[in-house]
Amino acid sequence: MKKNLVILTLALAGLSACQKTPKEDYSWIKNSLDIASAQLLETAREVDGTGMLPRSIYMGYDMDFLCRQLERDSATFMDSLRAQPAPGMAGKRRLCNVYDWTSGFFPGTLWYAYELTGNDSLKAEAAKYTNLLNPVRYYGGTHDLGFMINCSYGNALRLAPNDTIAAVMAETADNLYKRYNDSIGCIRSWDFGTWNFPVIIDNMMNLDLLFAVSKMTGDSKYKDIAVKHANTTMNNHFRPDYTCWHVVSYNGDGTVERKQTHQGKNDDSSWARGQAWAVYGYTSCFRETGDSTYLDFACHVADMIMDKVKTEDAVPYWDYDAPVTPETPRDASAAAVTASGLLELSTMAADGQKYFDYAEKVLKSLSSPAYLAKPGENEGFVLMHSTGSLPNGSEIDTPLNYADYYYMEALKRYMDLKKITYKDL
Ligand code: GLY
Repeated sequence: MKKNLVILTLALAGLSACQKTPKEDYSWIKNSLDIASAQLLETAREVDGTGMLPRSIYMGYDMDFLCRQLERDSATFMDSLRAQPAPGMAGKRRLCNVYDWTSGFFPGTLWYAYELTGNDSLKAEAAKYTNLLNPVRYYGGTHDLGFMINCSYGNALRLAPNDTIAAVMAETADNLYKRYNDSIGCIRSWDFGTWNFPVIIDNMMNLDLLFAVSKMTGDSKYKDIAVKHANTTMNNHFRPDYTCWHVVSYNGDGTVERKQTHQGKNDDSSWARGQAWAVYGYTSCFRETGDSTYLDFACHVADMIMDKVKTEDAVPYWDYDAPVTPETPRDASAAAVTASGLLELSTMAADGQKYFDYAEKVLKSLSSPAYLAKPGENEGFVLMHSTGSLPNGSEIDTPLNYADYYYMEALKRYMDLKKITYKDL
């Protein structure tokens, strides 16, 4: 009798434990990783031998649509910038060469897909496409070297380290270092245009390469300029409500020449991806320096994003100030960058749970059929519905390789925080 009672008590305790902790449903992650892996492998196979990398899909745009979104008339438009696809190319995959600012994202996405699934075919493709970028180590013509080399070789170093990788990263950091101007306290972004010394908010994303190379070499000079760049940008790029300008150009003495946009709706609007670069960048700065000024700043930018993005699924329109109509394009890339940044921030901030919850919502939206490609479609990209540069009539409501990269990175960060692996899904 006593034995039966014990068995019954244990059985009830087991039942109630099961009821209290229902297993969380991660099938959405499994679905995303399986689709991503298949899309990436197929793309790698199709692009093989071209010496190029997948970037987006060619699209053409109607001038009236652009003017409605920009609330401008066409007389103010630089139509020469609005490259239309060559005949027969609309809807086809757009490739880029290794000197394009996005060249590191496809190899980096392959690395994340390999890391998340353990599929060795993805690893082989990741190594192959990373090696393609080797000539970039001799290139100094852009600030985007961090994106290009840290997302490709930086992930290679984590997952398949060797001395060559470290050398490529160090040489690239030297070339980025040469773009730093000490009177201004910033790294120069672009070499084109009429600006004296343009710095764009995106440039915050190139600092991770400098932090990594300081750690790798033991030479603090790379980290030192990263910190100076972050501080100068904090002083000049942000408005009192923590939204930021896209471009700040400086005079030689460090005073501000102009504050403008290049990819946003207008100079004083809040371009969605710019806000995402900002929160991600200052979160990295706190990780690498431990300086709580950056943590506080990243939290303010994150709070601003969570307040200003009014879409139900938390995937922003391309610019927070764009007129909202049924035709207004989203920017899934901004959503993915934000999700990845907020997941890291959630581990640092005192009230991190709110950032985690928001990032989780974004990730679930991006993993839904509204944004996630159907297998075999979307020209091999993982996500749909990003916007590259609407004012320049370029890459609007299309896949973008960097949306895929930050989406995979965010999934990785999410799975790490949930302590789950592919085998658990
Ligand atoms: N770095 C360029 C962009 O975000 O479109």
